Amino acid sequence: QAGLKNRLLEINKEAAKYYYYQLKSNRGQAAYEYLKNRALSAETIKKFGLGFSNKTGDDLYQYLKHLGYEDSILKEAGLFSFDEKKKVYDKFWNRVMFPIMDVNNRVIGFGGRVMGEGTPKYLNSPETKLFDKSRNLYGLNFARIARRPNILICEGYMDVIALHQAGFTNAVASLGTAFTGLQANLLKRYTGEVLLTYDSDEAGTKAALRAIPILKEAGLTVKVIDMKPYKDPDEFIKALGADEFTKRIESARNSFLFEIDVLEKEYDLNDPEAKTRFFNEVAKKLLIFTEEIERNIYTQTVADKYLIGFENLKKLVNRYGAQLI
Ligand code: GTP
Ligand code: MN
Ligand code: MN
Ligand code: MN
Ligand code: MN
Repeated sequence: QAGLKNRLLEINKEAAKYYYYQLKSNRGQAAYEYLKNRALSAETIKKFGLGFSNKTGDDLYQYLKHLGYEDSILKEAGLFSFDEKKKVYDKFWNRVMFPIMDVNNRVIGFGGRVMGEGTPKYLNSPETKLFDKSRNLYGLNFARIARRPNILICEGYMDVIALHQAGFTNAVASLGTAFTGLQANLLKRYTGEVLLTYDSDEAGTKAALRAIPILKEAGLTVKVIDMKPYKDPDEFIKALGADEFTKRIESARNSFLFEIDVLEKEYDLNDPEAKTRFFNEVAKKLLIFTEEIERNIYTQTVADKYLIGFENLKKLVNRYGAQLI
C-alpha cells in the first residue's frame, strides 16, 4: 500500500510539472493570458504551481508512458479514462490546472477550470487511494505556517489564491464539497479561530450555516466575514484591495449573531405573530450556550438588538430549557 501511494505521488508530481511547463509553452498561451486577466502574477502562478492541460486527447498519458509508468498504476491515478477498446484519454484537457497539495506539500489531486464559460466550470480529480476530499484543504500547506492568529476559510481555489497574493497567506478552501468534521479537526491542529469568508450568495450563506456547528464541534471559535456587495473574496480584493479586506476581518461577526441575522430574514418582524415565532426560535438557539454567563450575555445582546426586555427573553429561554430536562 505504501509503495502504491508513493508511486501515485510520483505520478501526480510529474503531472503537475507537466501542466506547469505546458502553461509556459506556446500551447499554454491562452491559459496564461486567462490567469493574467484574473490578475495573478507570475510569482503567484509559481507558488501554487498552476498549469495547463492541452487540447489533444492523451498528451499526459503518452508522457507518463514515456517515463515508464504502466497502465496498471496509471489507472489508479484518477487522471485518465480507460475505455473498453483500451483507448486512453486524459481526463483534463484544455483547462487551467490547480494542483491540490496536502499539508506536506505533496500533490494529491487536481482541480481544472474551463477558461471562460462551460460546464463543468471546475472538474476535480476523483477520489483515489491518495486523494480524499473530506480530509484535505486547499492552501493549508501554506496557511499552517502563516503565523496568523486565525485561518480564513473560503469557497474556491481562486479565492485562496487571490487572498494569498494580497498577503492573506492564512486562507484555505474545501475542495468543492461541503465542509467536513475531518477538515475541522485538521484545522484545529493549527489554529483556535477560523473566519468564514464564503460567497455572499444564498449558496454561500447556506454553506456557512452548515459549516458553523461542525467547526464549533471541533472546538474552534468561528466568525463570519461579509463579502457584500461583492460575490467572493477574489472579486472583493480585486475591487477594493487588501486594506478594505483587513477592515472586513476586523469587523467579522460572531457566528451566533450571524445565524440570528440569517434567521431574522425569514420573519416579517412588523407582524406581531411572526415576531413572536422569531423570538421563540431565538430562545431555542440560545440554549446552545451552557454557561450561564455566556448565555446571559448573548440573551442581552439579542434583547438589545430587537428591543425586547432581557427578562422576557430569558424567561422564554428558560422555558425551552426546562423542556429539555
Ligand atoms: P471562479 O468562477 O473561477 O471565480 O470560481 P469560484 O471559486 O468563484 O466558483 P464557485 O463560487 O462557483 O465555486 C466554489 C468552488 O466550488 C470552486 O472553487 C470549486 O472547488 C467548486 N466548484 C464550482 N463549480 C464546480 C463544478 O462545476 N463542479 C465541481 N465539481 N466543483 C465546482
Ligand atoms: Mn458554482
Ligand atoms: Mn459560490
Ligand atoms: Mn465564488
Ligand atoms: Mn470567484
